[in-house]
Amino acid sequence: MNPAELASWVSAAQGAFLAAPDLESLKTARLAHLGDKSPIALASRSLGSLSPEEKAATGKIVGEAKAAITTSLDLRTKELEIERDKKVLLEEVVDITLPLKRSHRGGLHPISIIKNEVSDFFIEQGFAVEEGPELESGWLNFDALNIPADHPARTMQDTFFVEPVESGMVLRTHTSPVQIRTMLTQEPPIYVVCPGRTFRADELDATHSPVFHQVEGLVIDKGITMAHLKGTLDNFARHMFGPEVTTRLRPSFFPFTEPSAEVDIFFNNRWIEWGGCGMVNPKVLATCGIDTDVYSGFAFGMGLERTLMVRHGITDMHDIVEGDLRFTRQFGVGL
Ligand code: FA5
Ligand code: MG
Repeated sequence: MNPAELASWVSAAQGAFLAAPDLESLKTARLAHLGDKSPIALASRSLGSLSPEEKAATGKIVGEAKAAITTSLDLRTKELEIERDKKVLLEEVVDITLPLKRSHRGGLHPISIIKNEVSDFFIEQGFAVEEGPELESGWLNFDALNIPADHPARTMQDTFFVEPVESGMVLRTHTSPVQIRTMLTQEPPIYVVCPGRTFRADELDATHSPVFHQVEGLVIDKGITMAHLKGTLDNFARHMFGPEVTTRLRPSFFPFTEPSAEVDIFFNNRWIEWGGCGMVNPKVLATCGIDTDVYSGFAFGMGLERTLMVRHGITDMHDIVEGDLRFTRQFGVGL
């Protein structure tokens, strides 16, 4: 073993340490160049067999070579440790200024919000809320309401019939069957509102949807007159559209009310049809076993989509039915 040989081991070791890209690879290089079987370790061990003079001289240069290799390893270890720490700091950094990815709270659809608003308004005045099924018997949806078999509303065009057709079941075309259900099961006085989903074979366009919502009102008591109906509707309209709103009853026809009227509201400088109303037809009261000599009543039915559209200036029904959150969020969560 001569100085040139030792120098080559030192430079091989230094090269290997420098080439190690990380601490793991450096460990392998250390084993090769400083480990038990490395040339420098074998050289150290062989010193024992030398004469004392040779031992002193060779021991010195072997010791220096070993020290050089160790120094180079220590340097590289420090470098790689610093690199590793930097990387860890970068990777594990917590950026407290980063905005949170918020998950939005769920909320009620504007139709549900307005439905609750209407119900609350009437509950405050002593009304009860009644709900009926969406799949309804044809008798309750039509016959009991004095809608004859040849009425256009009963044809396939307007009504969704349910198979088997002989079942006589339909998707209710309005909330008026809930009036019948209520009168058949409750004794007057009756003060109810019946909000709910209704179905008609209408095309979805700017003002119609095949699935929409109505709210029905029904009052049966002694001495109920059209003045009570008008007063109730005026209050209702002011609550929904503001104190400035004007209402108008326009003569109309519904088989289940007599007389009947359309309720129009004057809002944003024009008259808009809001819903239908009238005094409950005595024929309907009789069908439900209510004594027409003692009791009379009124009823009304409004479209909830219509109410929402008028109040908020919504010009397209699609916005209400499509469920785009950019639309519904404007109404708040409503919880
Ligand atoms: C009725 O449905 C009657 N049952 C209302 C009534 C109740 C009259 C009690 C008398 C006594 P009409 O078909 O006009 O009436 O519907 C009432 C309201 O429902 C309409 O004014 C409109 O606001 C809404 N409406 C009807 N069809 C649709 C539809 N396809 N899409 C959205 N809203 C509708
Ligand atoms: Mg109408």
